[in-house]
Amino acid sequence: MKKKSLVLLLAFAMIFTFALSACGGGSSEESSEAAEEETAVLKVVTEATFAPFESTEDGDDTIIGFDPDMMAAIAEDQGLELEWVNMEFDSLIPALQSDQGDIICAGMNKLAGDRAEKVDFGDTYFESDLMLLVTSDSELTGIDAVTSDMKLASQIGTTGGDMVQQMKDEGKIADGVVLNQWTDCYLQLQNGEVQGVIVDKPVGEEAYLNNHGDIAKFVGDSFGEHEEFAFAVQKGNTELLEKLNTGLANIKANGKYDELVAKWFS
Ligand code: ARG
Repeated sequence: MKKKSLVLLLAFAMIFTFALSACGGGSSEESSEAAEEETAVLKVVTEATFAPFESTEDGDDTIIGFDPDMMAAIAEDQGLELEWVNMEFDSLIPALQSDQGDIICAGMNKLAGDRAEKVDFGDTYFESDLMLLVTSDSELTGIDAVTSDMKLASQIGTTGGDMVQQMKDEGKIADGVVLNQWTDCYLQLQNGEVQGVIVDKPVGEEAYLNNHGDIAKFVGDSFGEHEEFAFAVQKGNTELLEKLNTGLANIKANGKYDELVAKWFS
């Protein structure tokens, strides 16, 4: 009899131990998943030849600019952890669509084309317009003075890039040169390979004219659609978007946003 009750006792102890570890293990698994979610590093994708919004310094892959500083302030306000990935501008939206990125922050105009059908944009954090950049000796007076024998350059996948391609298709220019990097667009202008670059006004002013005002200038008034820059998240990620919007509102309210504008824009 004793032997039977001992076996029963051992069996009960084993079942109890197993049940306990299963419950206890579940809670430890759940807590580790929750911990992982809390510290999940969000991937911010951008194209970093767009100073002073985002750029890299010679020989250094670190992305600097208004956008990284703004997003760092938002992340601190909202308890988020970010890492930045630099890629071609026309890869940014596909990166979010294929879950290769969580956030786009790249001076991207949320009003342009069908972008808002593919990703969800947040609140506007900067406004801009397109301008025509030409060499100092150019006789061009503005975008309407461009003739059909001329070539204009801009960055592929951008509003400027779409415009030069549209002007080419409409026969208004001989060629619309779309390049991956803004720095290459400026070089083509300097080398006389194109007669103008269509670029966002704040970028042309800060990144080029401030350093090359002796050899280049803006001509005429701004043109095209008035632009509203916004960060974007994957379609449907309302929780993250609300955090980013709240963080933006908070840094605007506490003066941090204005401090960053003063830091990056003369
Ligand atoms: N604002 C323009 C657009 O939305 C140009 C953006 C280029 N940004 C960049 N990081 N290269 O198309």
